[in-house]
Amino acid sequence: MTRLRRALASDLDAIDALEQATFPGDAWSRELLAAELTGEHGHYLVAVDDADAVLGYAGLLAPRGSGQADVQTIAVAAHARRRGIGAALLDALLAEAEARDADEVFLEVRADNPSAEALYVSRGFERIAIRTAYYQPDGIDAVVMRRIVPIGRNEAAESTNSHDSEPPSALVLGIETSCDETGIGIVRGDELLANVIASSMDEHARYGGVVPEIAARAHLEALTPTIEQALQDAGVTLDELDAIAVTSGPGLAGALMVGVGAAKALAVATGKPFYAVNHLVGHVGADVLNHEPLVGDGALELPTIALLVSGGHTSLLLVRDLTSDVELLGETIDDAAGEAFDKVARLLGLPYPGGPEIDRVAADGDARAIRFPRGLTNPKDLERHRYDFSFSGLKTAVARHVEAAQAMGEPVPVADVAASFREAVVDVLLTKALAACRDLGVPRLLLGGGVVANRRLRDAAVERCAAAGVSLRIPPLRLCTDNGAMIASLAAQLIAAGKPPSSLEVGADSTLPVTVIQA
Ligand code: KG4
Ligand code: ZN
Repeated sequence: MTRLRRALASDLDAIDALEQATFPGDAWSRELLAAELTGEHGHYLVAVDDADAVLGYAGLLAPRGSGQADVQTIAVAAHARRRGIGAALLDALLAEAEARDADEVFLEVRADNPSAEALYVSRGFERIAIRTAYYQPDGIDAVVMRRIVPIGRNEAAESTNSHDSEPPSALVLGIETSCDETGIGIVRGDELLANVIASSMDEHARYGGVVPEIAARAHLEALTPTIEQALQDAGVTLDELDAIAVTSGPGLAGALMVGVGAAKALAVATGKPFYAVNHLVGHVGADVLNHEPLVGDGALELPTIALLVSGGHTSLLLVRDLTSDVELLGETIDDAAGEAFDKVARLLGLPYPGGPEIDRVAADGDARAIRFPRGLTNPKDLERHRYDFSFSGLKTAVARHVEAAQAMGEPVPVADVAASFREAVVDVLLTKALAACRDLGVPRLLLGGGVVANRRLRDAAVERCAAAGVSLRIPPLRLCTDNGAMIASLAAQLIAAGKPPSSLEVGADSTLPVTVIQA
């Protein structure tokens, strides 16, 4: 069986030989071929047999945003002709041109090659010019052809999608290493096949928070066994995957680098496309896998406001389209919500991670005992920071309260402090999220991130959304905390939307903006 895949640097020998045999006297130099194969605007494919021997190759040059694409070359080995390989390669290139929003595709064909010209005509190409004596040394004319991509999907792209590089339900492995969880997930379209998580949380416990160097080292150690476990759980092999996805940001730089390096290595070794995606949008992408949400029902509806709260981030997003239109409304200007739980737990002498501990002791406390400050909610702050959060003032207020009790020689009212602190965090989070729903006329709220495990946050969200006429969605907790399935899911959505893979030049970006859904 013949299969198409992206051309790799290791295919250079085979491609060079094919080029020399197909275009004697006029072949590209090996250096030029090598540069083309790895160039950022190019898209080179090879057709291979079961033994991965190269039967043909083809390349497209399509700088993103130019609206134009050029079919550089299509060559099929003499012994493999008349098997439709040239047509399959062409169709795959046309689908790629379309994915890159190229409205016009150009190519040149020898005037003495009518069968090639007939193939191009069958795919909608028209002659637009003749270049006299273009092919040397034999002085053959070049026929310049152009195809205007029709509005909407064309037949060539459809047929390619159904059998080759971008099947409608791509099988994707996702790697998440932005913080302290090594997450490997495998999805097929919107179906969750595996979600394996190795956490280095215990190793951070004695420091009271995530230590970046420890997290990076732990990812390195956990990656291989976690990937193997996920493949086993999903019952698939690396070879069967359609793509490798990874979180490229935002997150801890060193931790991200481990995942990005691993994903690139896997992509190159297996010849699979590489998708580098945004962690925050991934949290929303998790909800596509979510056929049984903790709160809510049916499929994810858009647009939605999303509130993502974890140890590393506190962000309020407007998601109009998961693969193309996400806007950051606001975020924390100091500590993340989960971080505030962790720091306050420490003040109260509770272990790390603080969220579950605060939840536990707050159960016996009075949430109205102490009126702690709500950050960025007074009218002046609201003007500049309507949807932003701040938790450092709250943390300081808790510290003052604890110190005051100690100075008086009184016992610290741990349960009341925990309950009142938790109430302050939950109140600000929901007040701002619901303000966004109201201001923007979007009556839907999605919650994600590890802090969603908080009991009070979930209960208050249910009550307040119901009162505001906002429909609430909360994915199951295992999909709320950082995981690889959400990254695989987002990449599967990007593939279904026809987005081309990321360049292997893309690196980790600890401050990747949320508007960059795919790096
Ligand atoms: O999303 P996540 O698993 O990982 C990252 O932050 O990267 O979130 C972990 C955070 C920690 O800060 C933890 O304290 C917080 O979520 N958390 C909670 C609860 N459970 C975990 N915060 C409040 N209440 C909880 N029950
Ligand atoms: Zn996260």
